[in-house]
Amino acid sequence: MKILITGGAGFIGSAFVRMVMGSTEHRVLNVDKLTYAGNLENLAEVAEGERYRFLRADICEGEAMEAAFAEYQPEAVVHFAAESHVDRSILSPEPVVGTNFMGSFRLLEAARRHGVKRYVHVSTDEVYGSIAEPHDADEDWPLVASSPYSASKAGSDLLALSYWKTYGMPVMVTRASNNYGPYQFPEKLIPLMISNALEDQPLPIYGDGMQVRDWLYVDDHCRAIQAVLESGRAGEVYNVGGSRALANVEVVKRILAITGKPESLMVGVKDRPGHDRRYAITSEKVERETGWRARVEFEKGLEETVRWYSENREWVARVKSGAYREYYEKNYGQR
Ligand code: NAD
Ligand code: TYD
Repeated sequence: MKILITGGAGFIGSAFVRMVMGSTEHRVLNVDKLTYAGNLENLAEVAEGERYRFLRADICEGEAMEAAFAEYQPEAVVHFAAESHVDRSILSPEPVVGTNFMGSFRLLEAARRHGVKRYVHVSTDEVYGSIAEPHDADEDWPLVASSPYSASKAGSDLLALSYWKTYGMPVMVTRASNNYGPYQFPEKLIPLMISNALEDQPLPIYGDGMQVRDWLYVDDHCRAIQAVLESGRAGEVYNVGGSRALANVEVVKRILAITGKPESLMVGVKDRPGHDRRYAITSEKVERETGWRARVEFEKGLEETVRWYSENREWVARVKSGAYREYYEKNYGQR
């Protein structure tokens, strides 16, 4: 199968590209703008050639998307590209709405015109907003997004599903919980806390730190997306969770224990505006329909992630300083 993947140079997208290239015969065109969060170093092990190609392009540019579809003729699309950080969306919502909503629209239009056969729109459990205990959101839970990030994702989920209802385009939406693992940009909770702990820097805890997130190892998420791509039903939404709900302070204390650093590194800071208290979903549907199960236990996944960040401090330094762009210029800049 020929798959057009967007955002394949980011955290989850690059894990998905590595997985598809390593464990299937599919061919991949990776379309990525290479924002601060996109880094081709994440794909250093994937050689360009017959099966894998990279195209630097912005999904918001309709003509560029049209040209990419016309030339590559993909049978399937897996759409990861997004501005993915809640705090950035609060500080600067415009690029977030632009990429997450309008970019998704441009991509849907190009896919519709070219008769794509499978289309996976990768989304998030944040579209359900805060879920009061003891409930877990299923796919019919109302969308009560709180941040510009989650609202732009919720809007694009609805738009994607409308392409199934209106045009019969076989769209599937996945809504995953918080991901963690190697190659995550050190601005989200787990990679930021690990890299700060390793450098003996303060670990900022928003508000009382008792907000609850469900943690999903990135490779488990990628296997779920692959399962939905292959056997999900068109027009359906699939939640994908790790079944591991923890308060933020719990997570940070575990990181400090693994890195052998003192809890005194934790500092309480002002809370995030509109901060969702608790995310919780049930993945019963994707499990029942595709046979997928999360495999990586949180303790093991976290240890593995800490190990990766301690062994890849240069990667952290490069992505933080933007120096990874040199990799692009060296390998792609001359074309
Ligand atoms: P990321 O920020 O690590 O990567 C995003 C990628 O998209 C980058 O490579 C970036 O260069 C690219 N991109 C951004 N704007 C673009 C544009 N206009 N055109 C082309 N490419 C563009 O994100 P991530 O954490 O890997 O998330 C991937 C997807 O999964 C997103 O859609 C996100 O909403 C969703 N998701 C993420 C999580 C999580 O915990 N990280 C959880 C559930 C769902
Ligand atoms: P984050 O990784 O930004 O993911 P999301 O907001 O999409 O769930 O944050 C996870 C939780 O950690 C969230 O409750 C906010 C909190 N948090 C902190 O307490 N300190 C931090 O420095 C960051 C980045 C997040």
